[in-house]
Amino acid sequence: MSAEAALRPLSAHRSPALKGRVRVPGDKSISHRSLMFGALAIGRTTITGLLEGGDIMSTAAAMRAFGANIHRGDDGTWTVDGVGVGGLLEPAGVIDFGNAGTGVRLCMGLAAAQPIAVTFTGDGSLIKRPMGRVLDPLRKMGVDVIARSGDRLPLTMRGAMTPIPIEYTVPVPSAQVKSAVLLAGLGTPGVTTVIEPVFTRDHTERMLAGFGAAIDIETAANGARTIRLEGRPDLKPQTITVPGDPSSAAFPIVAALIVPGSDVTVEGILMNPSRIGLIDTLLEMGADITIENARETGGEKIADLRVKHSALKGVTVPPERAPLMIDEYPVLAAAAAVAEGKTVMLGIEEMRVKESDRIAAVAAGLAANGVDHEEGRDWLSVTGGKVAGGGRVVTHLDHRIAMTFLVLGLVADAPVTVDDAGVIATSFPEFEPLMRGAGALFEDAEADAA
Ligand code: S3P
Repeated sequence: MSAEAALRPLSAHRSPALKGRVRVPGDKSISHRSLMFGALAIGRTTITGLLEGGDIMSTAAAMRAFGANIHRGDDGTWTVDGVGVGGLLEPAGVIDFGNAGTGVRLCMGLAAAQPIAVTFTGDGSLIKRPMGRVLDPLRKMGVDVIARSGDRLPLTMRGAMTPIPIEYTVPVPSAQVKSAVLLAGLGTPGVTTVIEPVFTRDHTERMLAGFGAAIDIETAANGARTIRLEGRPDLKPQTITVPGDPSSAAFPIVAALIVPGSDVTVEGILMNPSRIGLIDTLLEMGADITIENARETGGEKIADLRVKHSALKGVTVPPERAPLMIDEYPVLAAAAAVAEGKTVMLGIEEMRVKESDRIAAVAAGLAANGVDHEEGRDWLSVTGGKVAGGGRVVTHLDHRIAMTFLVLGLVADAPVTVDDAGVIATSFPEFEPLMRGAGALFEDAEADAA
């Protein structure tokens, strides 16, 4: 997966009203965890609605390399025959996670509490991303690592022969770091404790409890959460229905809000409170979003969202909301580009270590398309108005940068071109047909002159 395919440029043109009912693919965070936890259970886990994007296929390949038997039925149902906690095999080859930061970081946790050697690598984006945030606590638990300088991929780790339970306060608001330590704790005798000062997505905690792990969560008055996990449980296989990914739904939602006359319903979206900061922000901006058919499945709230074109107003998004919408700031910038006034996004430094430096990539894309903005180390502001468009956006192997600027192009005076729509398949392979089906005008564009 690391050999990058040829770039596939795509342009978005000013489009007529978007209409219809759409269904986005399964949640990426829950999909990764379904395969991983299924691989650690004893018996057969069944998954429907799994995201079949590049990132998740990397995790499926990794879990097979660790000995799990994973199968996709003709009806799209996946089964995972797990090996049990402590039962992972040493992979015979290098584990290539492609573009998937969540995949590789959680997998490092999985492999940490067994005496096996594993070599991880990834694509041109993933090998630039920091792995020290996960490796630091894993080293405390007894893991040995040989990595490129700065703890970058490729790296080889040898899991601990006698893993040590730790109490770890997560220094950055990151569900990946929290999850890696908890997953290492699964294979560690005794109680592993993770303290997160700031609430981040809680799928690991919820799903481990569902798989039968003994996990206890205490929330302090200041919001800090102390998570205690009893090591070496027997995980029981589950039947999982993966809800629609709110981070993918964000693109048709913002598109419907900004394209005049639109009326789109996005069905079956995960409404977990740790994931819907964007919806709160858009409502504050004056968005016409109605929550319909709210229901619950597998312990998670889901709903359909009916979204109509709205006259948006700029707002200030407070820093404490960042963990609840960290992947949605790029597309919020597209909404802000047409809102009346200024939208200020504060406390977003984590955006700099995603699939690309997203503050820089968004700012460059806005600049190329005539949108007024300012950028700081940990903030971005966008002043709305007419979008000139006509710019070419460098996606830096980042799916969300590609989708953001294709959405912006739907309201721009001149088409907006992204240099590679191929990267979208990591999280949302159906993006193009789904958006075209609702009325979006996309057109293949000329490749850059070499
Ligand atoms: C994820 C956590 C977030 C998010 C990523 C998915 C997860 O990363 O950006 O897309 O599934 O745990 P961080 O934990 O690094 O913030």
